[in-house]
Amino acid sequence: MIEVCKVGDINHGESKVVKVKGVEVGIFNIDDEYYALLNSCNHQRGPVCTGDIRRRVDGDIPEMGRPPNEYFTEDYVVICPWHGWAYDIKTGSHAGDPDIKIPTYDVVVKDQIVYIDV
Ligand code: FES
Repeated sequence: MIEVCKVGDINHGESKVVKVKGVEVGIFNIDDEYYALLNSCNHQRGPVCTGDIRRRVDGDIPEMGRPPNEYFTEDYVVICPWHGWAYDIKTGSHAGDPDIKIPTYDVVVKDQIVYIDV
């Protein structure tokens, strides 16, 4: 496990990119739980972890001519700043296709220090 930051360095709903063993990793604080994703988008290797963080939108596609039934879920996604692919921050899965996934890393918080396993 490698120390990446202290609790409080990253506010809720924000992220920070760190370099660990030559690898860029995004550390995210979601409701004071920490998550770590490889900072490399599956599309064209963009710096996905530097993108905006938002609640994931879900919904149904109704009959033609009716408005979509869209709503915000409890999940958060990060939006790649290059072309807008969105990934679930907890799982690394693409919001629209769970078969597309960026690597995640185990995170441990101990004595107010955040560690990741790279
Ligand atoms: S590189 Fe991330 S969406 Fe294209």
